Amino acid sequence: MNIKFDYSGKIALVSGAATGIGRKTALRLAEAGADVVVCDFNEVEGKKTADECAAKGVRTGFYKVDVADNAMVADVAKKVLADFGHVDFLVSNAGVNAKELGNPITNIPMKEMQRVFDINAMGLINWVQGLYENFTTRKTGKIVSTSSIAAYLGSPKMPQYSASKLAVLSFVKSLALELGPYNINVNAIAPGYVYTPIYHEAIRLKQYQPGQFDDCETSEDVMNKMARNSALMRAQTDDDMANAIMILCADETENITGQCLVVDSGRLLK
Ligand SMILES: NC(=O)c1ccc[n+]([C@@H]2O[C@H](COP(=O)([O-])OP(=O)(O)OC[C@H]3O[C@@H](n4cnc5c(N)ncnc54)[C@H](O)[C@@H]3O)[C@@H](O)[C@H]2O)c1
Repeated sequence: MNIKFDYSGKIALVSGAATGIGRKTALRLAEAGADVVVCDFNEVEGKKTADECAAKGVRTGFYKVDVADNAMVADVAKKVLADFGHVDFLVSNAGVNAKELGNPITNIPMKEMQRVFDINAMGLINWVQGLYENFTTRKTGKIVSTSSIAAYLGSPKMPQYSASKLAVLSFVKSLALELGPYNINVNAIAPGYVYTPIYHEAIRLKQYQPGQFDDCETSEDVMNKMARNSALMRAQTDDDMANAIMILCADETENITGQCLVVDSGRLLK
């Protein structure tokens, strides 16, 4: 690795840190010396992430939270500030995929539409509200949220997912303007496809994108096909996403704000 990150003395809150991209980001931040606040509603896996961070010699703690619940997020933010003093990096990463699919759009119950928006889009807004004073009074810090390349694409089968991820990008831009005078950077990353529990079986992508994977039998076939369908013809990993988040937390990127770093091996280009 060419870039060496040193985040000792920093306090990072990572939501959706029980598994996948959030877990890897929490571990990378801990390796770089940051104290890591692990937030998730998956208590079992979340505690494991916190233990793994602790094993790297940093201060850490697990906080159970449903990011869709504004009051619960506010309460957890308060507890975290009482326990850790402040937060330097907010990584708002918790997210869910679509459970019920269109089209037609009338197949998707309103409850499902609301669920995806509440977690994927409102989750970020809830965290920002909960930690607003922390950032505006300290006048230093970074906010990074996980969007998706789905934000840039239409998804007829799961419009709720694409729209919720585009909402993240729009909110990031507005918030970058609002918090710029407070010296806070607000950015997003847009992962391509990473084989994390969100896909459980990548084979489910067959459902999401009918016709595209007819020649694939296994999850591995699906992910390989995804990789081939990009400029670099490489699959993306949770490490790629953690790297992008780490970069957006660095002093060296202090003049990048309101942006989205697309990490998809050049798939959107095609
Ligand atoms: N894996 C991909 O290919 C991919 C692509 C684009 C975007 N993303 C985004 O990356 C982020 C991380 O996903 P991942 O791939 O690591 O999947 P993942 O399922 O491993 O991680 C999502 C995490 O969010 C947590 N979570 C879900 N709902 C929650 C809630 N209401 N409150 C608190 N925690 C909650 C889960 O328990 C889990 O730990 C998500 O926002 C996802 O939409 C992933």
